[in-house]
Amino acid sequence: MMRPHNATEKDCQDVLDLLAACGLPLDGVASQIDNFLVVRDNAGLLGCAGVENHGQVAVLRSVAVAGRARSAGLGELLVAAMLAEARTRGAQSVVLQTTTAAGYFARLGFERIERACMPQELRDAISLREACPSCATVMQAAL
Ligand SMILES: CC(C)(COP(=O)(O)OP(=O)(O)OC[C@H]1O[C@@H](n2cnc3c(N)ncnc32)[C@H](O)[C@@H]1OP(=O)(O)O)[C@@H](O)C(=O)NCCC(=O)NCCS
Repeated sequence: MMRPHNATEKDCQDVLDLLAACGLPLDGVASQIDNFLVVRDNAGLLGCAGVENHGQVAVLRSVAVAGRARSAGLGELLVAAMLAEARTRGAQSVVLQTTTAAGYFARLGFERIERACMPQELRDAISLREACPSCATVMQAAL
């Protein structure tokens, strides 16, 4: 099984291309690329995930797997690696928002929460990214 590794600037364009192909937000990715994990094979990028730490809360974002690599457990592997990383950095919980994959993250142990339950600062940080924040489901898991 391929292992996730820390992304560098060299991965940035491939990450942006994959996120665009998946219809996921691109803003903040280039400046936060150090906080991404990627999995590659010889043919290119297979998957990515990003995390931003906001004090004791980590925000998981940009979980994406290329079409040719789906349903092989790579998404789950990337999420698990990101949560381990967030825990190491001192986060006690992780939140995400999604418009398309709430069922997927529920299977991985995330529970839906009300946007209003998040601290305002965090709400602002993650809402900026969505074209329609009220359409997105916010989910949380304890670490
Ligand atoms: C969601 C995604 C990351 C899953 O990656 P993956 O490597 O294929 O996932 P895994 O192999 O860990 O799990 C596959 C299982 O999840 C299910 N699944 C995939 N996408 C799903 C979704 N959007 N909602 C619910 N279940 C989903 C699959 O049906 C599959 O189940 P099966 O094995 O019983 O057939 C990938 O489909 C993707 O990149 N989607 C587009 C981007 C996206 O929506 N990202 C989440 C927003 S942050």
